[in-house]
Amino acid sequence: MANIYLPVGSVTGTAIAVANALTEALIVAGHEVLLDINASVATLNSQPWDAVLVVTSTTGQGDIPANLLPFYAQLEEQFPLQNGRPFGVVSLGDSSYERTFCNAGALLEERLFELQGKAPIPRVTIDAIETSNPDDDALCWLKEWMEVALA
Ligand SMILES: Cc1cc2nc3c(=O)[nH]c(=O)nc-3n(C[C@H](O)[C@H](O)[C@H](O)COP(=O)(O)O)c2cc1C
Repeated sequence: MANIYLPVGSVTGTAIAVANALTEALIVAGHEVLLDINASVATLNSQPWDAVLVVTSTTGQGDIPANLLPFYAQLEEQFPLQNGRPFGVVSLGDSSYERTFCNAGALLEERLFELQGKAPIPRVTIDAIETSNPDDDALCWLKEWMEVALA
């Protein structure tokens, strides 16, 4: 059993729906999850989480959604070293944005690497114009992530 911190960044709710589906699957697999739409470093530091799973869409021109931006900024300001803690990133976007496709997830992944987190598998990108059911792609990725990150 693992205890997972799951920060979510979302503007119109798609990433929240995906995060809910992932939470359900993690709980079914016997894990505990805190899904947090107001993520903070204080909460990240509040428990010895076994893993961190970020689910975020991208907004603006490659920007992090407003509800996840404070967490991203706090990670830079407070620099909470992750000491090899496993993390994963599920990144939602739209490839018609081309250069900024899924950029928010890339930014989070980069920051967690800087903090010496360990990504057992690379982040997954979910393209709104390619898939009508983002949950399926995310759940497929989760299966692999669970096997390696929570083993
Ligand atoms: C105003 C706006 C700006 C967006 N900018 C980007 C972008 O720069 N890159 C990207 O990959 N997707 C972009 N998207 C697409 C969203 O990330 C995608 O539709 C996502 O599934 C929305 O998830 P959410 O409802 O959780 O916010 C944008 C969408 C909107 C409405």
